[in-house]
Amino acid sequence: ALITLRQLLDHAAENDYGLPAFNVNNMEQVQAIMEAASAVDSPVILQGSAGARSYAGEPFLRHLILAALEQYPHIPICMHQDHGAAPGVCFRSIQSGFSSVMMDGSLQEDAKTPSSYEYNVQVTRLVADLAHACGVSVEGELGCLGSLEEGKASLDHSLLLTDPNEAADFVQKTHVDALAIAIGTSHGAYKFSQKPSGKVLRIDRVREIHARIPSVHLVMHGSSSVPEDWLAIINSYGGDMGQTYGVPVEEIVEGIKNGVRKVNIDTDLRMASTGAIRKHLAEDKKNFDPRKFLKEATKGMTGICKARYQAFNSAGQA
Ligand code: G3H
Ligand code: 13P
Ligand code: NA
Ligand code: ZN
Repeated sequence: ALITLRQLLDHAAENDYGLPAFNVNNMEQVQAIMEAASAVDSPVILQGSAGARSYAGEPFLRHLILAALEQYPHIPICMHQDHGAAPGVCFRSIQSGFSSVMMDGSLQEDAKTPSSYEYNVQVTRLVADLAHACGVSVEGELGCLGSLEEGKASLDHSLLLTDPNEAADFVQKTHVDALAIAIGTSHGAYKFSQKPSGKVLRIDRVREIHARIPSVHLVMHGSSSVPEDWLAIINSYGGDMGQTYGVPVEEIVEGIKNGVRKVNIDTDLRMASTGAIRKHLAEDKKNFDPRKFLKEATKGMTGICKARYQAFNSAGQA
């Protein structure tokens, strides 16, 4: 059944677990996420970016989700719009039947330039008012979600992290159900060039923000762990991703213990898919039936989904 983000994360908060939110663009991703959820009895967040909508096309993306709902009637599914760069993107998703939307007002509409706080409040409030009138949940974002390690080395790290007082003010002004916070993660596969030796997440900051806004669910973007086994497979079957590290699963689990409820993961499934396909094609050079390598991709992604449901304790909660 379709469920809102608010309902799903309220349940997660009451029962002390976190939910992975996996990005979806195609049928194999949806099938992998659902097969894994059904196997371990976890609720599901399927999230589609604006890029996913333009890749698949709005009707195909919508019907992929409807197919998941039809095939798995016993699993609660939240259909969430990821990173809406403008109110119009969110309104289009509401019209499509999404049960949750993210208004990412932390960046200007070009999705590149950091926005002013006033702009962020204004667009997020607008989306929240309309979404709530339609029974749809809203996620906002506050803080600069970049890499704390590279590129911005000259900046004071504390400037990149979400400020707890500002978070409280933002929530009071916008009425969001969930808030994406900057606590040391960044998007994509290239988060850390060295194997993390200490802690990469600012758990202290999670705790402070959670204490200020306990009823708003905290979201961690850029939460791929960049699995070393899939990286090795990609690089040994013709790929060239270089050496790179993500957020250790144990640290995400610590975040969940301190108030994080939604954990965004895209890169890990991209890597499993690419690795499985590269390996299959390298080993079976005569095959030209795409179903065979797509099946391998689905299997690889299913393994990661199951592992995250179990680690975040959403297994058994559907
Ligand atoms: O945060 C972005 C997600 O990884 C989705 O990426 O915009 O390429 O679909 P995308
Ligand atoms: P990753 O790039 O770490 O998978 O993060 C995905 C994400 O935050 C989508 O919104
Ligand atoms: Na999102
Ligand atoms: Zn994100």
